[in-house]
Amino acid sequence: MTITKEPSAPLAVVLGVTGNQGGSVVKALAESDKPYRIRGLTRDITKPAAREFAAGGVEMVAVSLTSDNAADARAVFTGANIVFMVTNYWEHLDVTREVAEGKMLIDAAKAAGVGLFIWSGLESIINVSNGKYPNVYHFNGKGEITEYGRRSGIPFVNVQSGWYASNFWKLQGMKPKKLADGTFELALPVGPQTLLPVIDTPNDYGLFVREAIECPEFGPGSEVLTSGQDITVGDMVSQLAEITGKKITYRRIGDEEFMTATGMPPSVALEVLESLKYHEECGYYAGKTTDASRRHLARPTRTWADFVRATDWSSVLA
Ligand SMILES: NC(=O)c1ccc[n+]([C@@H]2O[C@H](COP(=O)([O-])OP(=O)(O)OC[C@H]3O[C@@H](n4cnc5c(N)ncnc54)[C@H](OP(=O)(O)O)[C@@H]3O)[C@@H](O)[C@H]2O)c1
Ligand SMILES: *[C@@H]1O[C@H](CO)[C@@H](O)[C@H](O)[C@H]1NC(C)=O
Repeated sequence: MTITKEPSAPLAVVLGVTGNQGGSVVKALAESDKPYRIRGLTRDITKPAAREFAAGGVEMVAVSLTSDNAADARAVFTGANIVFMVTNYWEHLDVTREVAEGKMLIDAAKAAGVGLFIWSGLESIINVSNGKYPNVYHFNGKGEITEYGRRSGIPFVNVQSGWYASNFWKLQGMKPKKLADGTFELALPVGPQTLLPVIDTPNDYGLFVREAIECPEFGPGSEVLTSGQDITVGDMVSQLAEITGKKITYRRIGDEEFMTATGMPPSVALEVLESLKYHEECGYYAGKTTDASRRHLARPTRTWADFVRATDWSSVLA
């Protein structure tokens, strides 16, 4: 990593540095030929990922960024030229909490005079679908935070996160299942032509954040739509089968069957069901294309096939 401590270099404060997105942001800034100072935030600076970043030159700071902790947020943002923020809905499944934390962080950045605020948002599915799919809280809450950030007056960029390539590999209820005849099946409540902006997040998400910071086309007020490759679920399954040498088929199943087959708690299964149907009907990014967002990346992104080849599937396709 080429991270500097030179006071003349811009200071980037990165939330979620021990996670998929924040870790990727640090990696991408460290790859840049422009120097950055980086302050990484975590609740636990003793965990291995935190120690590794510290050894690489990241200033690691322990902080818990909950909505009752605005003073600490303002303190860790002080002096920042750039802040990257992500919220983690899946840790608590509480959209009210997610939105409150997002708004608090925007207010804190405003108070600290941050130069560029980069947020990992998602579309408001309830709005884009005109109320047809109201229950996808992990998208809707992020849409609300985006709207708040845009109206706050701070220099704000929304770098929306694509569909994680790891979902079919690690998410319970989203992995291919073994059938009685020994072959595998991926069964989802949408057609095989459903297109997704698939991204190997730890490897590539940060590239788009770097683009948002370094490329003049993406200043404050802009939106970046991340994707390693836009690919249909049907093609994902056939490429997975071809590369791993396993027989894997895709099947569209009914909503009720999906809800019970996933094994997720009912409220979570409903979120996932509605999100998939929204992706099929409206498009993950509400019909916007990812072309312009991919034009000025510093290096190529991984395709789905690249991700499949780089991943050990033995526990999934056993
Ligand atoms: N799966 C998908 O396809 C997909 C697609 C688009 C968007 N997303 C969204 O991605 C988000 C998760 O991002 P991720 O994958 O990067 O998460 P992750 O890998 O699970 O990591 C979460 C990070 O957030 C930090 N964090 C959580 N609560 C914190 C708090 N109170 N104070 C300080 N830091 C805190 C954690 O730090 P410590 O634990 O070290 O404190 C950790 O670094 C979710 O909201 C999800 O909706 C997912
Ligand atoms: C959703 O639509 C409502 C009603 O038009 C509007 O008030 C709100 O600002 C929209 N929210 C987002 C996140 O776009």
